[in-house]
Amino acid sequence: MKILAPSMLSADFSQLKEEIAKIENAGAQYLHLDVMDGHFVPNISFGAPVIKSLRKHSNMVFDVHLMIENPEKYLEDFAKAGADILNVHQETCPELEKTVDMIHSLGCKAGVTIKPDTPIEKILPVLDNVEMVLVMTVYPGFSGQKLIPEAMKKIPELIKIREEKGLKFTVQIDGGVSLKNLTEVLETGVDIIVAGSAVFGAESPADATKDFLKAFEEFENK
Ligand code: DX5
Ligand code: ZN
Repeated sequence: MKILAPSMLSADFSQLKEEIAKIENAGAQYLHLDVMDGHFVPNISFGAPVIKSLRKHSNMVFDVHLMIENPEKYLEDFAKAGADILNVHQETCPELEKTVDMIHSLGCKAGVTIKPDTPIEKILPVLDNVEMVLVMTVYPGFSGQKLIPEAMKKIPELIKIREEKGLKFTVQIDGGVSLKNLTEVLETGVDIIVAGSAVFGAESPADATKDFLKAFEEFENK
């Protein structure tokens, strides 16, 4: 089953509770939460207190994408705030294996994220110990950018490695996905699809959510 993870970065921040209710009621399974520190990426978004406030109002899986330097300093805050999955960037973790262990010891699922120019080789040592690999198909920092097709090629490669080695991680795509390029995206074999501007930037986020879920179903029944 394909999973939709709308990114809250494109939502109306003055009414987050209502915004996320729209997509949850329409059937979205995950909420993708983009945390940015203004150092690792050239933008600042929100942190653990916002996630904690929203946790009371939603049963969706909270998929937290940490675009921050020194993520290990803040993992506990995000776990306590109610994150289900903590995604750290390979580029920010000199001791990636240790960071993954730390996430697990906090009771969360661990994800490892790679920027468009980071090769799969860099994350090979943790593939047997993470629940998710997040493949970025835009340079992290902003919603509404264009998908980089070259970066998407890593997805079928990861899925091949997963099959060959009998591993279990899910693969998530993040950046520039829309209903227009969705077929191409799904053909990579990806499991979880992040969509920011295509959902929260749409006139009706609820309708956009339903359109994505319908397209998943059609693709799977093809
Ligand atoms: C970018 C973020 C994405 C972003 C996706 O740094 O990680 O999650 O919000 O937005 P779209 O789907 O509009 O590219
Ligand atoms: Zn993201």
